[in-house]
Amino acid sequence: MIRRGARHHTVPRDNDGTLSALSARCTHPGCLVRFNDTESTWECPCHGSRFDTSGSVRQSPATQPLKPAHLAPTE
Ligand code: FES
Repeated sequence: MIRRGARHHTVPRDNDGTLSALSARCTHPGCLVRFNDTESTWECPCHGSRFDTSGSVRQSPATQPLKPAHLAPTE
């Protein structure tokens, strides 16, 4: 997870090595997700939502995927 100002992002690497930036903010809404190395999922500590490395919901209560993050270069 990386932090840019007040925003937190996940930057998972796909099996082919591709990096994609996602918001680390759960869509249920609000808590910061944490990565579970054993399950290879992003998990929300607040109510238990889980997301795969592409941000898709694997377990509710969240119904929306993690949002894409746009990481602009810093000055
Ligand atoms: S805020 Fe993440 S599951 Fe509720």
